[in-house]
Amino acid sequence: MKLKKGTVIWFFGLSGSGKTTLAEGLHKKLLNKGFLTRRLDGDLLRKSLNADLGFDENDRKENIRRAAEISKLFSEIGVITICSFITPKEDLRNLVKEIIGKETVIDIYVNCPIETCIRRDVKGLYKKALNKEISNFTGIDSVFEFPQNFSFIVNTEQESIEHSINTIAHFLEIDQN
Ligand code: ADX
Repeated sequence: MKLKKGTVIWFFGLSGSGKTTLAEGLHKKLLNKGFLTRRLDGDLLRKSLNADLGFDENDRKENIRRAAEISKLFSEIGVITICSFITPKEDLRNLVKEIIGKETVIDIYVNCPIETCIRRDVKGLYKKALNKEISNFTGIDSVFEFPQNFSFIVNTEQESIEHSINTIAHFLEIDQN
């Protein structure tokens, strides 16, 4: 089985691409199979530990650094940590792997065209960003670098959430025990 104790599964992609929903679904699946697992989510962490951080380049880096350091602590006691953070740049994705150790991280790119994320606009934030009511919004006036490499990719525009979760479960080989 590919999924070992202490693995950190790191979902990244645009806001509204489906990271949190996928993380929740995978978390439920792992719990049902008896894995010890914990979720860390950008939106939630930014209300607690990272409440002092905004969205400029330095703060995003600090946000990701702290999330990776916590994931590492969970990893060291064998917990499977499922993270969902935009993680917009390659250097941030590399930082995650540097902190945790690249053999421990499975990074999953949640691919969805920005037009679809704007159309979904679950939180109403794209509208605000397009109206210039908020700034530094990823994909609007802040960069999202398309990844050069990743462990796995899901395409949430074409696939249902259930299908994406099943392909991830298959990739992690968790349905085979
Ligand atoms: S990251 O870039 O530092 O990885 P993170 O995943 O923690 O971002 O937080 C992203 C979430 O914060 C988004 O899903 C959205 O709900 C909210 N948010 C608020 N302002 C912004 C912004 N300027 N850019 C991106 N997301 C924002």
